[in-house]
Amino acid sequence: MSHNTFGHLFRVTTWGESHGPALGAVVDGCPPRIALTDSGIQHWLDRRKPGQSRFTTQRREPDQVKILSGVVPGPEPGSWTTTGTPISMMIENVDQRSKDYSEIRTSYRPGHADFTYDAKYGIRDHRGGGRSSARETAARVAAGGVARAVIPGVTIRGALVQIGPHRIDRSRWDWNAVDDNPFFSPDPGIVPVWEDYLDGIRKAGSSIGAVIEVVAEGVPAGWGAPVYGKLDQDIAGGMMSINAVKAVEIGAGFAAAELRGEENADEMRIGPDGRPVFLSNHAGGILGGISTGAPVVVRFAVKPTSSILTPRRSINAEGEEVDVSTKGRHDPCVGIRAVPIGEAMLACILADHYLRHRGQVGG
Ligand SMILES: Cc1cc2nc3c(=O)[nH]c(=O)nc-3n(C[C@H](O)[C@H](O)[C@H](O)COP(=O)(O)O)c2cc1C
Repeated sequence: MSHNTFGHLFRVTTWGESHGPALGAVVDGCPPRIALTDSGIQHWLDRRKPGQSRFTTQRREPDQVKILSGVVPGPEPGSWTTTGTPISMMIENVDQRSKDYSEIRTSYRPGHADFTYDAKYGIRDHRGGGRSSARETAARVAAGGVARAVIPGVTIRGALVQIGPHRIDRSRWDWNAVDDNPFFSPDPGIVPVWEDYLDGIRKAGSSIGAVIEVVAEGVPAGWGAPVYGKLDQDIAGGMMSINAVKAVEIGAGFAAAELRGEENADEMRIGPDGRPVFLSNHAGGILGGISTGAPVVVRFAVKPTSSILTPRRSINAEGEEVDVSTKGRHDPCVGIRAVPIGEAMLACILADHYLRHRGQVGG
């Protein structure tokens, strides 16, 4: 009933709040004898952590992950081997500033989850948004690090493809560029445009939405399941569970509505190695809920950060009408840090489907 867990065989539970002492993830169902390293998991957390440029929140969290269980020491210092028992990982919160949030103790930030948490539970942790804060996503990113080790043949990469009205030029897509700019942009040409645009947004105390694309290569044909366990269904649910996500599309997504059948059909041929190849990938690597062997392509849109300096009309828990503006430190565009989070969700869902596929058909 409490819905802090996802996955069937690769089962992730996250716990913790924005301003509590720590948060973390428990991964249950990870196969035994898988090699993990502290630095391997930390690498993914470092990509998500705040304060790495002027375009993300200035909250200073080192996001140092500690593996507490489910492993025995491996051959090198900082290396581990999974035992098949629950892997618990903890990340301490060290830079909370709860006083920034005292003004919204009873007032509801428009666009945030303050009102709905109160409506549901009759109580909420107002400090930094409590459980509704995207601090929680650090735990998913740690779980994603374990998931990647379960499916080492799969390469999962994400990129930011749109901020506000400014889209990348897809003809300039270069995966090598993604980690060389503060936006995870695959198009170096858009970076100065985004810098100017976001500087304006940030200085105005405002915020803006974005679109993220995540691609998994190396997924063989056959993962996923029909009808109620579709791979695309689980991916969509996983991405939609990320804070601020308002839309998810697979492959051509909404653009498929404008295509004719002959344009949308991904024609097939036999490749040089005798295996099937698709001449296009409008399906985003999934047909009938089952992977085709083509790259799995998912995009999701995040809304603008709701905590902004500009006062917005709202109400408070006492039933009064108030104006709310949020102090504290915020991402002017949460889409930037959503890139590694989207990658982690795709990793967890693919690891789960790999184990489910192996469970049903072997191999
Ligand atoms: C990486 C990341 C950072 C976020 N940081 C903030 C923030 O600083 N302030 C804020 O109002 N919302 C932030 N959000 C979004 C809220 O967590 C989210 O809007 C809120 O929980 C309500 O949930 P919903 O938008 O999914 O409906 C962030 C989201 C992500 C993905």
